[in-house]
Amino acid sequence: MGVGILGTGHYAPDNVVTNKDLEKIVDTSDEWIKSRTGIEERRIAKDDEDSSDMAFKAAERALQDADLTAEDIDLILVATVTPDTPFPSVACMIQERLGATKAAAMDVAAACAGFMYGVITAQQFIETKAYKHVLVVGVDKLSKITDWTDRNTCVLLGDGAGAAVLGEVSEGKGILSFELGSDGSGGKDLYQNKENYLEMNGREVFKFAVRQMPQSSVNVIEKAGLNKEDVDYLVPHQANIRIMEAARQRLGISEDKMAKTVQNYGNNSSASIPIALSESVQQGKIKDDDIIVLVGFGGGLTWGAVAIKWGK
Ligand code: ACO
Repeated sequence: MGVGILGTGHYAPDNVVTNKDLEKIVDTSDEWIKSRTGIEERRIAKDDEDSSDMAFKAAERALQDADLTAEDIDLILVATVTPDTPFPSVACMIQERLGATKAAAMDVAAACAGFMYGVITAQQFIETKAYKHVLVVGVDKLSKITDWTDRNTCVLLGDGAGAAVLGEVSEGKGILSFELGSDGSGGKDLYQNKENYLEMNGREVFKFAVRQMPQSSVNVIEKAGLNKEDVDYLVPHQANIRIMEAARQRLGISEDKMAKTVQNYGNNSSASIPIALSESVQQGKIKDDDIIVLVGFGGGLTWGAVAIKWGK
């Protein structure tokens, strides 16, 4: 048996904030943001829409896509750095709203790599046969920890949620290999400051990310006993098109083989990989038996990647 993804779903708030809108509140330009990051617009949640609301909607869609009900879920893992409150967890909040009466629930904090940590944790529980179905959600409402007067960060961030249901798949399919890592010495470069705002040394994070995302992508391919030529599709964390391009070029795949949502959503942290994955599935860009790589990095510093043979 393998462990794979049975269904995906995503949700983003309706409210679109364009680069032009940001020109009115900080000293920036559409041209600067687009050329440095690839971002054109982002979704920003309303005050009364919190992380649990977005997570709930993405989770409902993933369950439907997997053709399962909430009662089939044994464990809920929610990756987030912006929970509604430190406790109860967002995972417990959506456990109740979904009616997942048999599920254990907890949040995972690994910033933008959180969804990768969730997926790989889920894999362990299913592989040991402790649990059959695990719901993994990546959600962040970064707008509530964004300093809207800081042009270094506010132009990069957005809100949203993505989800996947993991379970048993046929032998040979599913997760083929993984890598997780951390380097706490880089925590000072990306963190929530005393005023509760996200603060970042953009250049240092950039240097780390352009090295780590390509390296982790290659590592999981090699661990799976595959070659770069075997990769059909790449789903990288959507922080900055230049960092994503570094990973794509290292794998030597063409532009159409990489999920690209950064222009529409900006960086929505834990939600970015599952939103990009869910959109790619909906658009028919991922087919049965494709070899796909999911790869992310984030505050901590943290990183994670998986190679998957797609399909049930
Ligand atoms: N508009 C206009 N100018 C700006 C803006 C802006 N929004 N932001 C910064 N600048 C200025 C800077 O002040 C700097 O000016 P200076 O040279 O006079 O000091 C100049 O633009 C160039 O700055 P650089 O740092 O060289 O720009 P760079 O090309 O590195 O791009 C960026 C900056 C986009 C932040 C890049 O470093 C990056 O993407 N870093 C990684 C960010 C990331 O991935 N973070 C993920 C974390 S988010 C999370 O975990 C939730």
